Amino acid sequence: MKYVCEMLGIDYPIIQGGMGNISNSKLAIAVSEAGGLGTIGCGTMTPMEVEKIILETKKQTNKNFAVNIAISVSSYTNELIDLVIKHKVPIISLSAGNPAPYITKIHEHGVTVIALVASVKHALKAQEAGADILVAEGFEAAGINSSLELTTFTLIPQIVNSVTIPVVAAGGIGDGKGLAAALMLGASGVQIGTRLIATKEAPFHDVYKNNLVAASDTETIIVGRSVGRLRRLLKTNYSKKLNELEKSGITPEQFGELTSEKQHVKGAIEGDMDNGFINSGQIAGLITHIPSVRELLYGMMEEASKQISNVGNELHTLNRKADK
Ligand SMILES: Cc1cc2nc3c(=O)[nH]c(=O)nc-3n(C[C@H](O)[C@H](O)[C@H](O)COP(=O)(O)O)c2cc1C
Repeated sequence: MKYVCEMLGIDYPIIQGGMGNISNSKLAIAVSEAGGLGTIGCGTMTPMEVEKIILETKKQTNKNFAVNIAISVSSYTNELIDLVIKHKVPIISLSAGNPAPYITKIHEHGVTVIALVASVKHALKAQEAGADILVAEGFEAAGINSSLELTTFTLIPQIVNSVTIPVVAAGGIGDGKGLAAALMLGASGVQIGTRLIATKEAPFHDVYKNNLVAASDTETIIVGRSVGRLRRLLKTNYSKKLNELEKSGITPEQFGELTSEKQHVKGAIEGDMDNGFINSGQIAGLITHIPSVRELLYGMMEEASKQISNVGNELHTLNRKADK
């Protein structure tokens, strides 16, 4: 089978994206237990903090899960890789930086490497460096974005045509139709972030979840253009104020402080919308309710398979008519 299930030891080709410092073991366990691949995001956490979460996760699930290290965000990339190896976590995802210097060592310990990319050039480089799977993330996605600004619908088929390793689509996928579309573009699975926030198990403040349910299609905002560090947030007083500050001039250091993981925790965990921010992708407008992770993943698989067979049958009928 061409999907990533076998390589990752999971039932559904659905990966939870890493989520900075905010998604603890609870969401990763829920996703892995529901048949997807749960991910522990390291963000700026110390190795000691991450080790605690890895141990909690291992205690509560026998299923596979991954650890995400955002290379340019973490000060502990090497130490975190050592932790993954020490605790025999089977999969590591590397984002926000060049994965090449780390892959050989990770492979020596039998760990599968997922590399996050946002262009054909970076995809080819990651493949050459030995990545096992690519996650190609479009500009629709929540959180730190590539300044190349390529969108999922164009990025996936171009990367799929350029590499030989499996490509997982990320950015803008929130239901079974999105999953079906990504597979039709040639992806071997999907990675989702925004849709998983509005689930029962996600350890985030209700204000965050409810804001996503209430959001319309135009409710996200890009901050950081003025300092070349793009990030997609939900429109709130805080993110709008950040945009205003950028217009009047802000240093990269000030921007870094205002978008630090401390401010992320304030928004996402404490629900403080005046002093903290919340990440969101453009797919927020599609979110109408807060299901359990199991309901979400199972529902996506059901909807995707129905969508693919319905469309396939309709196209087949049209083609037969055209033949006559
Ligand atoms: C709250 C939040 C935090 C995120 N933090 C990270 C991160 O630390 N590392 C990373 O590689 N991606 C991060 N992302 C991106 C996701 O892993 C995922 O690729 C993205 O959300 C997919 O797009 P979507 O939001 O449209 O589903 C984050 C996304 C969200 C929603």
